[in-house]
Amino acid sequence: MNLDNIFKNNEKWIKEKLATDSHFFDDLGKGQNPELLYIGCSDSRVTAEELMGAGPGEVFVHRNIANMVISIDLNVMSVINYAVENLKVNHVVVCGHYACGGVKAAMQSADLGILNPWLRNIRDVYRIHRNELNAITDEEKKYDRLVELNVQEQCVNLIKTAAVQKAYRDRELKVHGWVFDVHTGKLIDLKIDFEGILKNIMEIYHLD
Ligand code: CO
Repeated sequence: MNLDNIFKNNEKWIKEKLATDSHFFDDLGKGQNPELLYIGCSDSRVTAEELMGAGPGEVFVHRNIANMVISIDLNVMSVINYAVENLKVNHVVVCGHYACGGVKAAMQSADLGILNPWLRNIRDVYRIHRNELNAITDEEKKYDRLVELNVQEQCVNLIKTAAVQKAYRDRELKVHGWVFDVHTGKLIDLKIDFEGILKNIMEIYHLD
């Protein structure tokens, strides 16, 4: 990739935006009011806005390796807090993807240094769902299923936060789990049973 092209592309993009809306950047400069917080993987193939057809100002985005929501990660927790309590988004999405390198690494026995504690959270997902996963004999299918279960467990981790619990009570904020299929480009809604999970875990995780 020629980095000079990036700046040429940027000039071209500005012209295109202004051609359809001469006030585009004036409006953008006034502030943001996104409806959606998107938490996805850093993988270069899984863009956030492009695959959703969303433009600047529409989605608040956080990306990390394997789209994790880890309670002691100050980065993701700050993003969630700011998006839910200040920007007042009404939807929070965790979007995983098939062929995720982070999930694959967590299925293998290898010392990956600083990634060990990060990926251990995915090994925990495997342990929680061990019976279901071990019953799948096809390795690819098992891998795909772990990607889906990881999204589900990160949605559960979202529901454990005080910010999400309060916003659900105050304005019915919703949590969604999606998977992007890099082989077809399709975005799949896992139809996470948000309210069922909420009821199920509140006995233990109720904060607000
Ligand atoms: Co990934």
